Amino acid sequence: MNSLSINDFHTMPNDFPDLDVYAVVGNPIAHSKSPVIHQRFAEQAKQKMHYGRIQAELGDFAKVAKSFFAAGGMGLNITIPFKLDAQAFAEVLTPRAQLAGAVNTLYRQNSQIFGDNTDGAGLVRDLLAQGLQLRGARILLLGAGGAARGAMGPLLEQSPKQLIIANRSSAKANDLAQLFGGLAKTNGVELASSTLNELEDPKKGHTPFELVINATAAGLSGESPLSAQAADNIFIPSSFAYEMVYGKSTAFMQQALQRGARVSDGLGMLVEQAADAFLIWRGAKLNLMIDPRSVLAKLRHSCD
Ligand code: ATR
Repeated sequence: MNSLSINDFHTMPNDFPDLDVYAVVGNPIAHSKSPVIHQRFAEQAKQKMHYGRIQAELGDFAKVAKSFFAAGGMGLNITIPFKLDAQAFAEVLTPRAQLAGAVNTLYRQNSQIFGDNTDGAGLVRDLLAQGLQLRGARILLLGAGGAARGAMGPLLEQSPKQLIIANRSSAKANDLAQLFGGLAKTNGVELASSTLNELEDPKKGHTPFELVINATAAGLSGESPLSAQAADNIFIPSSFAYEMVYGKSTAFMQQALQRGARVSDGLGMLVEQAADAFLIWRGAKLNLMIDPRSVLAKLRHSCD
């Protein structure tokens, strides 16, 4: 059970002298599922820890994070809108945080604050757990903002055949394709960029994709980034449509379902990125004790 109260919006380590204290920082943060996810991992791995929520005011991230670590806090997760502030706050960035251009996990090591990013790894783990074959697949990534960038490295490392980045504005999609050109080459991936409008044109060679990931913010405002024409070109019944947003069936998911494709929301990505953060903080060996898929199943059950 989630026994957190409103006071936990300001979790500070001094409030829990006998426990290792972690928290998620965001704004808003009231509905974050991270505390309940980490509480379940802690139970599974028999860890004495508390994981709370902190709502920081815009512009206050560094102040909040500094006082949290100064009071003995062990680690933070960071969510919207502070992932860039967290990157600036970290004294050392892991290679994948550098590649992602954002930080969602902070921890202290050898008296330095490290910044990592587990979002893309969480996405890939969720896709693999759902039975997707990523090696050799043709993947369409919708969006070229922070969420898309975080997914790029881990997706390319799976050696798909092709990865097309499609964005509303072409400049950002081109930039992302350029940034990841080297990694794509190393992994033998055909990487290209497109505009969303170009997806409507069959002459552009955009035949159906095995995996389409919506990393745009369109779902939040009830829209799909795809026109009906583009959806017709992209989805076939063997396609898999992955929506990074969770907790609702978005317009993007509906378009895919209407064309017979399989769909998933991003709740599994949330749980898997949390699992990765938990293992960074508490030790990779605990991998044998935690079961993210059972945590996900319980979470889905409690949302029904
Ligand atoms: P995030 O960190 O969530 O990725 P972001 O960096 O602001 O947020 O990026 C938002 C992404 O969603 C961008 O790719 C944006 O497209 P543009 O670069 O053209 O702005 C995309 N986006 C937002 N609303 C959209 C909509 N209604 N239709 C299509 N794309 C949308």
